[in-house]
Amino acid sequence: MNAPALLRWTASLTLGLLVIAPGAIAQPQGFNYDESRVPEYSLPDPLVAEDGSKVSTADAWRQSRRPEVLRLFEDHVYGKTPIGRPEAMRWEVFDAADDAIGGLARRKQVRIYFTEDDDGPRMDLLLYTPADADGPVPTFLGLNFRGNHTVFPDPAIRLPEGGDESVRGERRGRWPVDTIVSNGYGLATIWYYDIDADVKDRWDDGVHPLAYAEGQSEPGSGEWGSIGAWAWGLSRALDYLETDEQVDGSRVIVMGHSRLGKTSLWSGAQDERFALVISNDSGCGGAALSRRRFGETVERINTSFPHWFTDRFTQYNGDEDALPVDQHMLIALIAPRPVLVCSAEEDLWADPRGEFLSARHAGPVYELLGTDGMARDEMPGLNDLIASTVGYHIRPGGHDVTDRDWEVFIEFADTHLGRDGAR
Ligand code: GCU
Repeated sequence: MNAPALLRWTASLTLGLLVIAPGAIAQPQGFNYDESRVPEYSLPDPLVAEDGSKVSTADAWRQSRRPEVLRLFEDHVYGKTPIGRPEAMRWEVFDAADDAIGGLARRKQVRIYFTEDDDGPRMDLLLYTPADADGPVPTFLGLNFRGNHTVFPDPAIRLPEGGDESVRGERRGRWPVDTIVSNGYGLATIWYYDIDADVKDRWDDGVHPLAYAEGQSEPGSGEWGSIGAWAWGLSRALDYLETDEQVDGSRVIVMGHSRLGKTSLWSGAQDERFALVISNDSGCGGAALSRRRFGETVERINTSFPHWFTDRFTQYNGDEDALPVDQHMLIALIAPRPVLVCSAEEDLWADPRGEFLSARHAGPVYELLGTDGMARDEMPGLNDLIASTVGYHIRPGGHDVTDRDWEVFIEFADTHLGRDGAR
């Protein structure tokens, strides 16, 4: 990333922090945080097709309704992802060590190029796996906000172009790599700016240009925004992870926080190779139901972050009831694979109750596909994990990823994927 992009990135991050930092900083004014003022709404039924017919078999869901719902999210919310894996995609492992983190982990760094051109779009994947694993391990894959070098204070992690050495290890609290590997899991992470800079009105960088036709300089109407691009990057990371002998490609868990939690859900919805999907404090455009208009609204998100979604999502500014989908249907697209929605009590901007309800209303699709769905009808108390195939957890505190969140991610993954090499 060049210096102006870095500045814009810092500015966009600061905006995010001012708006939603935990605890002491208030939630933005002028939005609804009062449950009694949630309007009456009725949700579209994930099991009723556009032609009005009721989907009553798993086959009908898979063959017709699921593709229909996926298309609705493409057309109205995130935009269509116009490309798959580029033919010229390739990678180079530029670092491998068996004795990272005081001997606890193996570290690998891989540069994934999307074209033949070494200077074209590319991303750097950082991978830690348990040093004592005898075979491939289930692995968490998550994008990070500030660069791979911020995830852990490991001097060997390559600094991104234009990156800041002084923040090395700064996000360690969000990425407890030592705990993750000690529990038998791998962790793979990529800086989301490598895939697409999180900057409004800027479409000439990142991976969007890979899909442009001659003369095109920004995504067309109904095409992917930045969330779509980041989700695509996660699928390309999985392409690599499936080939890495230290990783069990059939047990990759895609997780993300906040805007990157919206991204993990969209990624898991589109790419059925992900074995388990986790969203943390993902809020509006993520797990939260838009129709509740509690905390952040569709209009507000489209105004602050117009580049995240497809242009057509703005049609629903102030008109959420006209949306042909709501976010419970995004979760339903992940069925029958396990999905975990995590909230934080003080993060009202992200509407914890709306996140729970979304998970709950995805339940019938999960049940139709033969799983236990969502085990409870009522929102649980704090720190009380619902560990059914559609899972939910809310912890005390604000918008963040904490040790408690990771404890829950690991417990949920243990329950649904099993684990190897735990100590
Ligand atoms: C803003 C935005 C949220 C988003 C968050 C983040 O607060 O309004 O929708 O989840 O930033 O990504 O940090």
